[in-house]
Amino acid sequence: MSLLDKFLPRKQKTLYELVGQEKGTRQLANTFYDIMSTDPVASELLALHPQPMDSIRERFFEYLSGWFGGPPLFEQKYGHPRLRARHLPFKVDQNMIDQWLHCMNKALEQEVKSSRTRQAIQQAVTPLAQHMLNCPH
Ligand code: HEM
Repeated sequence: MSLLDKFLPRKQKTLYELVGQEKGTRQLANTFYDIMSTDPVASELLALHPQPMDSIRERFFEYLSGWFGGPPLFEQKYGHPRLRARHLPFKVDQNMIDQWLHCMNKALEQEVKSSRTRQAIQQAVTPLAQHMLNCPH
């Protein structure tokens, strides 16, 4: 925290603060992959992921940390996320995007109590997921 922040506290909290900092962000990332691993609706999405997913869980948490306005852990370790490019080796069609968003919406319902915070995350993540489309058919 800078000296300025001490005297001029920001009114607007970051999503990172709203979801419960490191613990809440980690929990959201883990619940997301727990749902992907068990919900039959997401079986094709799960099949796309190399197993085991331990390191993907960690990298997704690190990404969310920075994306929510907390410590930019992913960028510090791996450089600019280039998220779309990272997903190019995988066939991402509309069905995959729908399954991904299904898991995320379910994880948000489980982990984020405030409906305003949930909606803010949903509004931001939906176009980002749509942006991963690399196989339109
Ligand atoms: C919408 C459809 C999506 C599909 C089908 C998908 C699929 C995948 C797959 C298969 C991996 C494993 C990559 C590997 O093992 O190297 C992965 C990794 C990852 N995904 Fe996604 N993803 C989607 C959307 C998203 C979104 C919206 C985000 C961010 C909010 C995201 C963040 C990540 C991150 C950070 C990793 C780890 C990347 C790395 O370190 O290389 N993904 N994803």
